[in-house]
Amino acid sequence: MRVLVTGARGMVGRLVCSALSRQHTVLGTDVAEGCEHLDISDTNRVFEVFEEFKPETVIHCAAMTDVDGCERDPDRAYLVNAIGTWNLACACASAECPIIYVSTDYVFDGEKTSPYTEFDNPNPINVYGASKLAGEEAVKDLCAKHFIVRTSWIVAPHGKNFALTILNLAQKRIAEGAADKPLTVVADQIGSPTHARDLAEFLSSLVGSKLYGTYHFTNSGSCSWFEFASTVLEYAGIKQVKVVPIKSEEWPTPTRRPKYSVLRHYRLELLGRDNVRNWKEAVRELISEWTTARQ
Ligand SMILES: NC(=O)c1ccc[n+]([C@@H]2O[C@H](COP(=O)([O-])OP(=O)(O)OC[C@H]3O[C@@H](n4cnc5c(N)ncnc54)[C@H](OP(=O)(O)O)[C@@H]3O)[C@@H](O)[C@H]2O)c1
Repeated sequence: MRVLVTGARGMVGRLVCSALSRQHTVLGTDVAEGCEHLDISDTNRVFEVFEEFKPETVIHCAAMTDVDGCERDPDRAYLVNAIGTWNLACACASAECPIIYVSTDYVFDGEKTSPYTEFDNPNPINVYGASKLAGEEAVKDLCAKHFIVRTSWIVAPHGKNFALTILNLAQKRIAEGAADKPLTVVADQIGSPTHARDLAEFLSSLVGSKLYGTYHFTNSGSCSWFEFASTVLEYAGIKQVKVVPIKSEEWPTPTRRPKYSVLRHYRLELLGRDNVRNWKEAVRELISEWTTARQ
């Protein structure tokens, strides 16, 4: 099948392209260098790429993912996350091409105390979440053949993500002789880390499926950012730098974040297909990839 991937230089898009290339003809696109240039906010260009490549499925991973950046520049966030998705949804609708849209736990407000299912009502509390929800609505309104896959707290051995930030900060402290200065990490926001490769395999498995609709997909289990950071350093064998838990109020950012955004894979559970590995196993693999990359 001919599959168009947006955001192909990003954390997820890169692994989606490699997973797909085993079975499909893939066109990876991005605004970043290294693949076919496609700015999804450019309507004409979106239709031009469709005309040239004639995709039979689109996996839409491109987004403005800098959550604080979205809060500072809402116009840009809506242009990329909502209008960009709208453009792709319009092109998919006119080509009758299924679209797989990657969305986020941040569509929820975090007020629940048990995992969110696909049947819970979104209520975003920040611009990133609202602009991604607008993208979900565009896909739902325009494309009968759509998948919306909500995920959270993505990690990968490349790109900008929390696990690599913690590892780099700890190493910097050690290199500067400041290992006794602990890392402070928020302990009152709970979610589920997700290895980008597990998500990429799941997204690829949807190509050709007719089981359209909304899915939640993360690694299983949940933790706070503090537990996540502690586990990353433990598995990396970095004992010199300690992690200290703090409250969200002690780490002021421009963005309100949900306190609790664990996603229950209810749709997969009901289909009898919820067998995603635990986040700790995913972190173990990530550390091994990180270690290999440094050798
Ligand atoms: N990261 C997470 O923890 C997380 C959690 C939940 C959901 N998600 C969703 O998962 C998807 C993949 O995220 P990711 O972590 O792989 O993000 P990422 O690493 O930031 O990749 C996104 C890619 O899209 C590109 N892009 C930005 N604006 C674009 C535009 N106008 N046209 C085309 N490409 C554009 C980015 O380029 P630049 O880098 O040059 O901007 C980047 O290469 C996104 O839809 C995101 O909302 C992510």
